Amino acid sequence: MKKVKHSLLISACALLLTAAPGMAQQKAAKAPLKSGTASAVVAPAKTGASKSIDQKVDSVLALMTLEEKIGQLTILTSDQDVTGPFVRPEYKKDIMAGKVGSIFNALKVDYVRSLQEMVMTKTRMKIPLIFGYDVIHGYRTTFPIPLAEACSWDLAAIERSARVAGTEAAAEGLDWTFAPMVDIARDPRWGRVMEGAGEDTYLGCLIAEARVKGFQGKSLKDPLSVMACTKHYAAYGAAQAGRDYSTTDITERVLRDVYLPPFEATVKAGVGTFMSAFNDIDGTPATANKWLLDGILRKEWGFKGFVVTDYTAVTEMLEHGNVADSADAAKKAIIAGADMEMQSNVYNAKLPALVKSGEVPVSDIDASARRILRKKFELGLFEDPYRRCNKQRENTLVLTNENLEASRDMARKSMVLLKNENNVLPLSKTVSKVALIGPLAASQVDMLGGWSAQGDGKKVTSLLTALKAEIGDSKVTYAMGCKIDSTDQNGFAEAVAAAKAADVVILALGESKDMSGEACSRASIKLPGQQEALIAELRKTGKPIVLVLFNGRPLDITAVVPNATSVLEAWFPGTMAGPAVCDVLFGRYNPAGKLVMTFPYSVGQVPVFYNQKHTGRPFDAKNHYTSKYLDIPNEPLFPFGYGLSYTTFDISAPKLSSTAVNFKEELTVTVSVKNTGRFEGEEIVQLYVQDLVGSITRPVKELKGYKKIKLSPGAAQEVSFKISSEDLKFHDNKMNFTAEKGGFKVYVGNSSANVKEARFELK
Ligand code: NOJ
Repeated sequence: MKKVKHSLLISACALLLTAAPGMAQQKAAKAPLKSGTASAVVAPAKTGASKSIDQKVDSVLALMTLEEKIGQLTILTSDQDVTGPFVRPEYKKDIMAGKVGSIFNALKVDYVRSLQEMVMTKTRMKIPLIFGYDVIHGYRTTFPIPLAEACSWDLAAIERSARVAGTEAAAEGLDWTFAPMVDIARDPRWGRVMEGAGEDTYLGCLIAEARVKGFQGKSLKDPLSVMACTKHYAAYGAAQAGRDYSTTDITERVLRDVYLPPFEATVKAGVGTFMSAFNDIDGTPATANKWLLDGILRKEWGFKGFVVTDYTAVTEMLEHGNVADSADAAKKAIIAGADMEMQSNVYNAKLPALVKSGEVPVSDIDASARRILRKKFELGLFEDPYRRCNKQRENTLVLTNENLEASRDMARKSMVLLKNENNVLPLSKTVSKVALIGPLAASQVDMLGGWSAQGDGKKVTSLLTALKAEIGDSKVTYAMGCKIDSTDQNGFAEAVAAAKAADVVILALGESKDMSGEACSRASIKLPGQQEALIAELRKTGKPIVLVLFNGRPLDITAVVPNATSVLEAWFPGTMAGPAVCDVLFGRYNPAGKLVMTFPYSVGQVPVFYNQKHTGRPFDAKNHYTSKYLDIPNEPLFPFGYGLSYTTFDISAPKLSSTAVNFKEELTVTVSVKNTGRFEGEEIVQLYVQDLVGSITRPVKELKGYKKIKLSPGAAQEVSFKISSEDLKFHDNKMNFTAEKGGFKVYVGNSSANVKEARFELK
């Protein structure tokens, strides 16, 4: 490891620590240190480890010129990966000029080190860079897409997945991930649903918290932890018409009841940073929204970290039309509390003059710089700017067998069995001939899904490879049938011939990895190309068809499901896709995942989600003037919380400890769960609550608890939940967060649509 050069400033820093901050600032302003003589990198002994981070931050800040402070407020992308519309070719010059506080998309220890060295050798203040990247579901070992992981409802597994991802990223030099994405998503057309935890707020909070814990570990200083970034603040998932980057139209109540809680949950979990969203909310883009960034995030929730904007979101306000020019954009963003500007470089370009003219108070610059410096201290970068640059860790900690096994385990836990007619699954290993058909059967790269960081398609074990390993090459006939998205049916004949010669067809259909993720909205959410036609053709052979879906969003598969005997939603499972699917298909793992996003009957129902509001005219087949479609049912194809197992469970009606509780009492809800089938299996027992009369209308039901239990065949277990008035709170007609007296229903079951109920009063 290279030695950090300590210079005169070490003692200058130490001196300043003892002085009052105001004095220190005056000194610095009067006598700025000459280029080449300063360093803010200080050994802990010299700074006095006992000094609080705030004192250390102030002592560094006091030495900085206005331009240097503004430099800290800028993050630029390197040219090693592309995650936005443009790269600034001169980013290295900017680093050496002290105009950059953080770099993203810089890969591998050697490169990260080389950029950090530019700061340490060429800039006056030598303030280390933070290195960020979109580490969303794995780094080199790719885990299932986050939407899939959420279907496990397994918080420990999700935390472990984030831990592995963070560890691999940190081993390759990164300090910071732009995750978790906690946007509640109710529109499957929106491609970014793959990155989140689905449509439910309660579950979204728990998963958001688990992901932050996984990434950050016990301490940001841990060289194997990365700092997390909660995004996209806020309501990015409410993009109108499911089109990415679109505007939102959202009431404050829906914002607070539905969209904001997962963000707040991450603040409670100690997340280091937030990313502001691209969209506007009630006319003000999130990036310049003081109410959101300062009012709610900092004042209401007490967030102490820093806010980074999304990619060029500040200058995009010119397109939004709420700013006159880029100076106006920079001014509005910094005053609102957007601390670090991503990629447009507009803070460097405009803020110095705005401060000098008095339009932007220097205290705003100081406040933002302070928040960023604080995180640099917490990350341990002032002690050692090369903290995460360790070749040995890079060479030994990624793509390990242990990480691959964790990914495989997460993948099978994430899969959701949607249909299993005649118990065709699990398949027997002694099956004599399998036709493996479909455009995703042999695909490696698609298994990674969107936002796959440094995941490498070549490292993926495809379904084809895994199936051959499972039952032997000679028993598998593979035919692609058609491409993912084309008009060509020339492969159908070969696929049909393979199906006819087999005992069972395994059909791998879905989307390509690039059909979901950022800027990947789809108006039709059906299987693309000729895939629907392919399954219809195969159906005519009369062979059982096990449909395995690989996709990044809920799809409209209404026309497809009747043609399949079994349907396994495998999502994009990651590096270990093939083995994980085989674990499920051959019964080594009994599927237990439950949908976290509704599968619509048709895209025409969208947005369709389980916790919708009532209508004054609920559907009544005998009355024309009720809420319905003329051409499709109101019910979705598969509801939130739905998912089958190879075994069956019976869940009793809920028993309540009392039929009335006051605001201080807890209600206990108990059900008995029995495994009534032939296999050991897990069930996710779900508890929903409905507030029957409110000062404002309330959702038809809301998830308020769940337990995942494992039972052997014939075994039974009591499962209990506690409910208190805290769980019954919502934002009332005066925007108070409160519970109201009155009647409630409790529902318990194994999906949002399959429940038994009981009733109680809150008095
Ligand atoms: C834009 C995306 O919206 C955001 O999620 C991501 O973190 C940044 N680009 C950086 O890649």
